Amino acid sequence: MSNDATAEFIRKLPKAELHLHIEGTLEPELTFELARKHGVTPKYPSVEALRAAYDFSDLQSFLDLYYAGADVLRDEDDFHALTMAYLRRAHADGVVHTEIFFDPQTHTARGIAFATVFAGIHRALRDGEREFGISWRMIPNFLRHLSADDAMRTLEELLPYKRHFAAVGLDSSERGHPPSKFTAVFARARREGLRTVAHAGEEGPPEYILEALDLLKVSRIDHGVRCEEDEALVERLVREQIPLTVCPLSNVKLCVYKRIEDHNLKRLLDRGLKVMVNSDDPSYFGGYVLDNYLAVQRGLNLSKPDVAQLARNSIEASFLDTAAKNRWLAKIEALAAQGSSD
Ligand code: HPA
Ligand code: ZN
Repeated sequence: MSNDATAEFIRKLPKAELHLHIEGTLEPELTFELARKHGVTPKYPSVEALRAAYDFSDLQSFLDLYYAGADVLRDEDDFHALTMAYLRRAHADGVVHTEIFFDPQTHTARGIAFATVFAGIHRALRDGEREFGISWRMIPNFLRHLSADDAMRTLEELLPYKRHFAAVGLDSSERGHPPSKFTAVFARARREGLRTVAHAGEEGPPEYILEALDLLKVSRIDHGVRCEEDEALVERLVREQIPLTVCPLSNVKLCVYKRIEDHNLKRLLDRGLKVMVNSDDPSYFGGYVLDNYLAVQRGLNLSKPDVAQLARNSIEASFLDTAAKNRWLAKIEALAAQGSSD
């Protein structure tokens, strides 16, 4: 089958995106537009110069730019424009459901009200659902490089909005900030009826994945690729069918793997882990969700059944209700059956 036909097969598969930081979808063109709007002097002379700076050596080198970039997001319309641009792009890639992370503390620390951030993203998600038919969930994340007290204060601030959130999550600098630091915050969130997810095992060790499961009681692990270093953990993840929201291009950009050909996604898939493909911070990592699927399909020589399994896992691991999951899974089966005949 030609490359074009493979791309079209993957594009048509209904896919859920479960690991996407909305601040990481800020494209340089919008950065410059918003800088102009707010009278901010850009730190880079041009869109090209900003894009050229996206050359990272590890997670922290990315986060430094990512937090600086968010400075142009100031009013409700900015958050709306950011989110609409992502939804338009995701729709073109065949994303039918998205579970969006956002970082309240990145904005409240700059004096932007939580209500402003929430209103812009939420209005765009509703507009996007109408325009593109994409269903959605919102998942505020706590920044793990800040204190547990700061996270607890943030949780208190967002509790009045909790009916709008499917879960809370944990992101930012992983090394030296184990999930155990946030045990009390996540216990409080769970008492309030919120589910939990956490980044773990991206740069941090497998023990962090265990802590996220046992102390934070997460429904999914974000990244989790370092699980392979602990055989007993891999067996548990398979047994309990804990989803790992893998982000292949992110892992290469942040030097977790040198090349896409070195990524462990295919090995994890073959062992029966519930893995799927996500874009993480697509503006910074050079690709949206379809680019990620195509990169692993080519780099790891994935078959059509492999790719269909990734799409199936994305739907099954989502926070959609069972009826909605079954509708999308039936569509995947129909496409996969067609796909196996050519
Ligand atoms: N890891 C940790 N924190 C993040 C990431 C990530 O991949 N993206 C945005 N914040
Ligand atoms: Zn992430």
